[in-house]
Amino acid sequence: MQPLFIGIDIGTSGARVIAVDAEGRLVAMATQEYPLLMPQPGWTEQHPTDWWDAVAACLRQVTAQVDVGHVKGIGLTGQMHGSVFLDAAGSVIRPALLWNDQRTEAEVAEITDRVGYERLLALCGNRALTGFTAPKVLWLRNHEPEHYARLAHLLLPKDYIRYRLTGRFATDVSDASGTLLLDVAARAWSLPVVEALGIDPAILPALHEGTGITGQVTAAAAAATGLPEGIPVVGGGGDQAAGAVGVGLVAPGMASLSLGTSGVVFAASATPGHLSAGAGGAVTPSGLPAEALSTVHSFCHAVPGMWHVMGVMLSSGGSLRWLRDALYARETAEARAGGREPYDVLTGEAADAAPGAEGLLFLPYLTGERVPHPDPRARGAFVGLGLGHGRGHMARAVLEGIAFGLRDNLDLIRALGVPVGELRITGGGARSPLWRQILAAVLEAPLRLLAVDEGPAFGAAILAAAGTGHFADVPAACAAMVRPAEGVAVDPALAEAYRKCLPVFRKGYVQLKPVFPELGGL
Ligand code: XUL
Repeated sequence: MQPLFIGIDIGTSGARVIAVDAEGRLVAMATQEYPLLMPQPGWTEQHPTDWWDAVAACLRQVTAQVDVGHVKGIGLTGQMHGSVFLDAAGSVIRPALLWNDQRTEAEVAEITDRVGYERLLALCGNRALTGFTAPKVLWLRNHEPEHYARLAHLLLPKDYIRYRLTGRFATDVSDASGTLLLDVAARAWSLPVVEALGIDPAILPALHEGTGITGQVTAAAAAATGLPEGIPVVGGGGDQAAGAVGVGLVAPGMASLSLGTSGVVFAASATPGHLSAGAGGAVTPSGLPAEALSTVHSFCHAVPGMWHVMGVMLSSGGSLRWLRDALYARETAEARAGGREPYDVLTGEAADAAPGAEGLLFLPYLTGERVPHPDPRARGAFVGLGLGHGRGHMARAVLEGIAFGLRDNLDLIRALGVPVGELRITGGGARSPLWRQILAAVLEAPLRLLAVDEGPAFGAAILAAAGTGHFADVPAACAAMVRPAEGVAVDPALAEAYRKCLPVFRKGYVQLKPVFPELGGL
């Protein structure tokens, strides 16, 4: 009997549930979208119960397509950093604040003040940034004390699904790294930080490795999903760590580029704490401010005994979706009606524009930025618009601007002393041949596609296969289930053209930085 493993991903735009076999073949899949709430500029929220409703609906579809007797394990993954606040009865207190929510500037300062910048780096391996979870807990305390008084359980998005599936309050160390409450080197909650912030440690979930079994599907969850009762649910991972497992990053130095709503450069390592390695000097070798080095995240990997560093830009696919909706709404509707891919219209026009878009640059900071600019007030910008520019130039500039932002992330990781060669590329953005070519040239790094690119859900299913004992460990599971496919080489002429654009792109943010905070008052 061929065993099946289920991966569940709580994405920002929707849930995705897949079932794969032990050779990594996709057997069944279902997706369902849910709304993104933006109650104020810079705020992003979702209802955890919407996640559960979507997951339950997807599971009912998937379990209807497979012989559920073959399902041996479930892995969870999802958007990181989100804050699910539950009361003592396990009910949701208010909508969750998401990873790209930017309301916590004051709480970031409060945390840095209470713990100390250097001490935070020493205890957690990371500095405070607006997207992380701990500032969201302090925001609740500072702004909604009546809600804070009821807070009994703090969970991350995928772990709310775990709670609904198994009744357990648990998380995994990769996702927990993004709370800023974890001692990343020790893979344990940092009690000194929890205490300094005045947070009750009793609200924190139990910690597991990505392959650890955290509970079993309950009778109530079985009735809601079509899953048999008792199936084990493993720790899983934050979407970036699980995504990295899904593309086979199980050895130090292996790296990936993931293009979802966010854009992430991820490098696996055998040791924690690279953040002090490259410090010293005012600028990195590639000319970025040295203080940007500490914006790189230093987290536990979902692979036991491994860590990773990553640079996260907030609006990668998010910038492209904005462009599609703002400038290509009609074409998008027509493409959808005709069963075609809406992004093909946009990339088709971008392909007709020259590299550098005839002097047009795009800064991809539509929802503020995290790495390399920890700046919640940053905004997007086209710089250099002239009468000769049309929509295709703007499309090209957006594709290139996101690539430059990712190059900033890659340069920081390299400046920290982490060697990065080929990058495995995953996510919706990996589907465009033009964008792949632009990315390889801007990053000056070869890229590698995967035969099955089912994103973080695939990595979660692999963690389930390893955690339930079908494979000895995660590397063995990846060897059997992950298949690297075609490569994308660096086009030297294109790389040369982009080498000229990069310093101008970098000046763009520096020059506009003082303007951004004033925009909010207009
Ligand atoms: C990672 C991050 C995003 C979210 C959403 O640090 O914030 O990648 O996980 O995908």
